[in-house]
Amino acid sequence: MDTMVRLMYASTPVAGLQETDIRQILAAARRRNLERGITGFLAFSGRCFLQALEGSPEAVNGCYARILRDPRHVGAMLLGYDRIDCRQFVDWSMGFASTAMTQDNVLLRYASGGQLDPRQLSAVGANLLLQELAVAHAHAAAHVAAAAA
Ligand SMILES: Cc1cc2nc3c(=O)[nH]c(=O)nc-3n(C[C@H](O)[C@H](O)[C@H](O)COP(=O)(O)O)c2cc1C
Repeated sequence: MDTMVRLMYASTPVAGLQETDIRQILAAARRRNLERGITGFLAFSGRCFLQALEGSPEAVNGCYARILRDPRHVGAMLLGYDRIDCRQFVDWSMGFASTAMTQDNVLLRYASGGQLDPRQLSAVGANLLLQELAVAHAHAAAHVAAAAA
């Protein structure tokens, strides 16, 4: 089996970033990640991004290098880089949740004060939060699908 890693980072969106910008980021990310065997999850609030990338070290490192050059965010901080045996975000080339979709009580459990700053998270905490967001997001999507059926 080839080596796999999970990289997590937090960054700050530049001022004035619009929902259309986020949609463009996601569309490009999903296309490229699919080509490179990368899975992951991106969480967005008006104030920050928190993202996990999983895949081969070459693919993940190359992707992160591209992400660091992206002018749509600043101040990227690496939260974790670990060798993994198994993917956690296997259903997503890049899953996505914004705080608008997220229950405040989920986020606040990870915050020391009144607001969550992902830069303060440990690698374990960042991973747990992203997993929790991914599960909540999958449930929400299932409800929408069931309601539409
Ligand atoms: C918050 C954020 C997350 C991103 N996530 C990814 C990603 O998961 N995969 C990826 O290839 N690029 C990601 N990017 C980079 C952009 O999507 C970048 O424009 C794209 O990789 C370049 O694609 P292109 O060369 O096809 O234009 C991200 C950028 C930002 C700001």
